[in-house]
Amino acid sequence: MIELRQIHKSYRVDGRDVPALHPLDLSIGAGEVFGIIGHSGAGKSTLLRLLNGLETPSGGSLTVDGVALAGLDADGLRTLRRRVGMIFQHFNLLSARTVAGNVAFPLELAGTPAAELRSRVAELLATVGLEAHADKYPAQLSGGQKQRVGIARALATRPKILLCDEATSALDPQTTAAVLDLLSTINRELGLTIVLITHEMDVIRRVCDRVAVLDAGHLVEEGPVTRVFLHPRHATTRRFVAEAEHVDEELLRGGVQGTGDVLRLTFLGDDTYAPVLGRVARETGVDYSILAGRIDRIRDTPYGQLTVALTGGDVDAARRTFEAAGVHVEVLR
Ligand SMILES: Nc1ncnc2c1ncn2[C@@H]1O[C@H](COP(=O)(O)OP(=O)(O)OP(=O)(O)O)[C@@H](O)[C@H]1O
Ligand SMILES: [Mg+2]
Repeated sequence: MIELRQIHKSYRVDGRDVPALHPLDLSIGAGEVFGIIGHSGAGKSTLLRLLNGLETPSGGSLTVDGVALAGLDADGLRTLRRRVGMIFQHFNLLSARTVAGNVAFPLELAGTPAAELRSRVAELLATVGLEAHADKYPAQLSGGQKQRVGIARALATRPKILLCDEATSALDPQTTAAVLDLLSTINRELGLTIVLITHEMDVIRRVCDRVAVLDAGHLVEEGPVTRVFLHPRHATTRRFVAEAEHVDEELLRGGVQGTGDVLRLTFLGDDTYAPVLGRVARETGVDYSILAGRIDRIRDTPYGQLTVALTGGDVDAARRTFEAAGVHVEVLR
């Protein structure tokens, strides 16, 4: 659906070209939820704006749904933007229009006949659960409701791609979860390709299939979220994951007294629920203190991550037994 080849972007600042994105390659498949994570200034919004032609690359090639963006005239760009919807951190709603009026806006621009427009707006408001709020104004809505209006408006012209620029950053954790669930449902039911940018690993974990990590304009890591989240390779990725996991690294690396090896055990998929700890203890004589642990989901895949200090017994045998049971073992100390 989206192909970037050696795309780069510099901005002209005080007569100099300052790079915001260094040459990068990226492919995003149809129907994927693709996340881009990075700190402030990493180039996330720049990358997103390249995808709907709001920004032109300084070099490289970019195709969206089989169309090369470089060759597009004004008409072509308008057509492209109808195929690519976008939602924003601060919602960007029209305050003088009602909820229904906001959702109708792109349809009016596209010249949709009145009767069709009315039924389409009703359908969109039902999709995002706002049927009861059609005649309210944005100022009368909560943040989560405003973002639902933003989503309905973005879906109005039946786009194939939805771009989300920090769409949940202004929302509390519960509202964030509800909006992310809605995006996930839309992805599943409409087959929409979603590209979302965020600075929170938890957002990536909840909805994305794959993720790319941007660091100062460089793409430093990319892969399935199950791999990147559970086994991050780049230092920047590791910091994002540590923030999401609230792991006390100091405790893990040296602060525990009177214990031996410290292992991080990762269970993925159905193995998450396997009763393997007791068996390893019985068979190898090791004992555990649990230092940190979590069972959760990466999109729809369950996972467990347990950090344990081992005492006594045969640690090597314990490790081998874990691995034979499909558990990933990482020695932290
Ligand atoms: N229109 C512009 N003119 C000049 N420089 C720009 C422009 N837009 C962005 N930049 C610069 O490009 C770099 C990347 O900016 P970008 O907005 O893509 O980052 P971001 O990852 O979205 O950050 P944030 O998380 O704060 O939104 C920054 O150094 C920024 O100052
Ligand atoms: Mg940004």
